[in-house]
Amino acid sequence: MTMTNDSDAHPLGSEGAEANGALSLLRGLSFCIQTFGCQMNEYDSERMAELLTRSGMRPVAEIEQADLVLLNTCAVREKPSHKVVSLLGRLRPRQGTRRGAHRQRLAVAGCVAQHQKEELLRQVPWLDLVIGPDAIPRLPELVERAFDGERICDTSFTDRHAYAFPNAQSETVRGRASALVTVMKGCNNGCAYCVVPRTRGREQSRPKAEVLAEVRGMAEAGVREVVLIGQNVNSYDGGCSFAALLSAVSEVTGIERIRFTTSNPHDLGDDLVEAFARLPKLMPSFHLPVQSGSDRVLAQMRRGYTVADYLARIDKLRAARPGIALTTDIIAGFPGETEAEFEETIALCERVRYENVYSFVFSPRAGTSAARHEAEWGIVPHEEKVRRLEKLQAIARDISLSFAQAKVGQAVEVLVEGVSKTRADRLFGRTPESRTVNFEGNARAGELVMVEIASASSNALFGVQRGAGRGHLS
Ligand code: SAH
Ligand code: SF4
Ligand code: F3S
Repeated sequence: MTMTNDSDAHPLGSEGAEANGALSLLRGLSFCIQTFGCQMNEYDSERMAELLTRSGMRPVAEIEQADLVLLNTCAVREKPSHKVVSLLGRLRPRQGTRRGAHRQRLAVAGCVAQHQKEELLRQVPWLDLVIGPDAIPRLPELVERAFDGERICDTSFTDRHAYAFPNAQSETVRGRASALVTVMKGCNNGCAYCVVPRTRGREQSRPKAEVLAEVRGMAEAGVREVVLIGQNVNSYDGGCSFAALLSAVSEVTGIERIRFTTSNPHDLGDDLVEAFARLPKLMPSFHLPVQSGSDRVLAQMRRGYTVADYLARIDKLRAARPGIALTTDIIAGFPGETEAEFEETIALCERVRYENVYSFVFSPRAGTSAARHEAEWGIVPHEEKVRRLEKLQAIARDISLSFAQAKVGQAVEVLVEGVSKTRADRLFGRTPESRTVNFEGNARAGELVMVEIASASSNALFGVQRGAGRGHLS
């Protein structure tokens, strides 16, 4: 869809545009990307930044200084979508600044864009561009048209066979210890509460050769850990199974640690479980979202497994890699969830003893079956959802803290990520289980060092470096 603002002039003026040819309209302009949501969005934001930079634009940190403000948004729950709505409100131009040579252009990308489409342009008259995840490769051209005065919505899904995954530039990750690598997009599952299949479309796997080329490029740029990302990596089929992809990635020279997210319990196969026994570079941490500890609620959620199935998979994982750190997602107050069913969720968390639990109150999302049937299944009042959430979080925090405290006095291997965010005289990195460690030491980002843990809180460990670890790098 295209709407035109006839009176809008390009900030550089038409002369500059004609002199420089295609995409020259963008040369010298600045952009600022704000990212909400999950790692898919973090990855996509970096690809968008690369595309804009290649078109001659330059990144700036402050929204106020940017010619183009791009919000990469999340629609998974009400809270992240509200953040976008309120930011859009704050970005409303003051009277008189909407037209004219130096008007800032405003774009919304990501899942809110894909979910709301043209409606967003109608609701926010000062918005210039709505761009869905599949339109990312067309971003420079769309932004150029926005600077030329058009209002555009591009949220069409690209045909499975025509879609090309944008490839990361290794320069973007130089100096980083850890980097994300997309292995697939979309989701073919139909969990009753979830908007993601609507915002990210059908599953599509990135060809194995492309994934490996990206990982190799990153390793050459100094990256030591890759996190393979997709909404359900179990269904990866880019020329091999996901377990086989992990084997291939672990053969890349320079890569010392491999992680992935997310895996849905319903199709977690034995080959992926066995990969934890086979591949030492595959880190001992596994995010396996369970959502609920009640079989009735799980069936209503259309998750495709029972609590017994889930626990059997966990037993196998723990047998394959003793000590593996398990994390999960839980939804509190799903429509119809009774107090007794919620207590089953608490019991499951106490039984599994998760390293970390990410929990959310149920949030009805437009277009999902849980939103359509909420009243029929039984709305859980907001205060009750929050009470359940808080109870769960308190129990999960205690368990998490006990794992952290068990590390005190031990030497753990840490991949150094950089200078600590809270204290400039300390470094920070992660344990194999993915716990954050702040420590005193003298290593550089990308080095693997041993750190003796002196104290623990529920969100970080603290320690002192004890010499170099495996894979000391020049
Ligand atoms: N693909 C991932 C999940 C992506 S969404 C997976 O299947 O594991 C991340 C988490 O957000 C979900 O695991 C779920 O716990 C939560 N979530 C998704 N939709 C939600 C909703 N409508 N209300 C509350 N939480 C939700
Ligand atoms: Fe959503 Fe379920 Fe797909 Fe995860 S597997 S993205 S929760 S529909
Ligand atoms: Fe949010 Fe979209 Fe990720 S809805 S969780 S940004 S896939």
